[in-house]
Amino acid sequence: MKRRHDEYRSRIRSIPLFADLADAEIDMLDATLTEAHVEAGKALTLQGHAGRDFSVIVEGLATVIRDGVEVERLGPGTFFGEHALLRGLPRTADVIALTPMRLLVAGLGEFDRMIREIPSFADQVREADRQRQRSTAGLVQH
Ligand code: CMP
Repeated sequence: MKRRHDEYRSRIRSIPLFADLADAEIDMLDATLTEAHVEAGKALTLQGHAGRDFSVIVEGLATVIRDGVEVERLGPGTFFGEHALLRGLPRTADVIALTPMRLLVAGLGEFDRMIREIPSFADQVREADRQRQRSTAGLVQH
């Protein structure tokens, strides 16, 4: 059991978003995040639809498509789906798996709990959300 915990902690800490977490915070994630495997081509979010989950990419690559245009590619250590959950708004982009992917997924309640209880997670996710929405707003104006 201890070994399983240690392995989980070091696996989670290898993800930059979670690198600085305390053991107790990581143990909370263990009970909160679900691992998912998805096939290439799967639509992980759809622009304009309601959002019910947030994902961290462990393996694989996804494209972010907004208004039919690719705005970003996301790989291991990055995350997506924060915007709809943080703001209670529809998805701002399609996120499509370009390769088979391994994800750590949090539902709405779990995500809210992580935001409330893990300040370093909340700060990074909020900052990424601000930058992403700013960069995409810039694209739309040009
Ligand atoms: P959400 O709007 O919930 O669902 C689509 C997701 O795509 C969004 O959250 C972000 O996680 C991601 N996304 C949207 N725009 C960008 C961008 N410009 N760069 C990176 N990721 C983005």
